[in-house]
Amino acid sequence: MTYSAILLVGGMGTRLHPLTKTTPKPMLNVAGVPFIEHQIVRAREAGVSEIVLATSFLAELFQPHFGDGSAFGISIKYSIETQALGTGGAIRHASSSLSGTGPVIIFNGDVLSGHDLAGQIEFHINREADVTLYLTSVPDARAYGAVELVGDRVIAFNEKMEKPPTNIINAGCYVFNRDVINEIPDGKVVSVERETFPTLLVDSRRVFGYVDGSYWLDIGTPTALIKASQDLVLGVVESAATPAHQGDFLVAPGAIVGDGTKISVGSTIGRGALIGTDCIIEGSNIGAGAVIGSGTVLRNSYVANGCQVPAGTLGNSCYLGF
Ligand code: GDD
Ligand code: MG
Repeated sequence: MTYSAILLVGGMGTRLHPLTKTTPKPMLNVAGVPFIEHQIVRAREAGVSEIVLATSFLAELFQPHFGDGSAFGISIKYSIETQALGTGGAIRHASSSLSGTGPVIIFNGDVLSGHDLAGQIEFHINREADVTLYLTSVPDARAYGAVELVGDRVIAFNEKMEKPPTNIINAGCYVFNRDVINEIPDGKVVSVERETFPTLLVDSRRVFGYVDGSYWLDIGTPTALIKASQDLVLGVVESAATPAHQGDFLVAPGAIVGDGTKISVGSTIGRGALIGTDCIIEGSNIGAGAVIGSGTVLRNSYVANGCQVPAGTLGNSCYLGF
């Protein structure tokens, strides 16, 4: 069985400013490749044959890398919102580019997870659901959509509230039946979290939760972005899109590392970067073409593409290059 999917990539990525003023969050390099490459390859592995990127902000930056998808073994199309339509409006708009009439898988374009997507799709079909949400648990649900369940049926959806009633959250991957997508108003700004889900629940539609406790991370903050890259390089979470590397760090082609420099703890050195001598790079992501002066020590830091870091810089949990 093959499936169609929509990847939501049109947000502004404000919590990652200024990094995301020129590069959309889903295109930021994470473990050496644009983040959504990890999601696209995972989707393909679960049987997705066609994926529409729902773009808006900096829409023109996706196609040069992903093209028609053939290099990634999947068909990739692009839907462009001239004005951001919100998550629900984006789904409706992108759906007109999909072939077929079967269920559609929707991904937030900033979630790294090890969840069983094929299992979620099978669950959706077996329950004859209208919509199935992938759910996970977090210690503090305030920044997310908190979900209330009875058995595996969703009975309430509470987007970003001060006192969430549960710590079970919307993990940002849904299976939608096509008729439910067609009910979303066309060409209007709609939030799937604040409008579509609550309306479906009021109407007693078949909305189910697929709870999966595998690795899960929303990369939307600087700390999470750095952690995602480390975890992929260290193999805490597996991705077939992570370039081959030996040991606990990744050096992309064309990067040069000076004598006496130690790289470790899931660091990535981007394409063509130049690292001086006697540096210590731990748990850090060095952007493509960046130049790091000798004797620099960076821990849990993110260095933007092309950034020049002076010799002898000491940085811990830094965000450099702006
Ligand atoms: N095309 C398009 N148009 N995409 C959009 C738009 C839009 O207007 N607005 C947001 N997106 C995309 C973003 O690019 C991102 O990939 C995804 O939708 C989710 O937006 P975020 O801004 O990252 O939302 P969030 O992290 O605050 O909350 C969402 O994700 C949580 C899980 O990480 C919600 O879905 C929560 O309910 C959920 O718990
Ligand atoms: Mg997010």
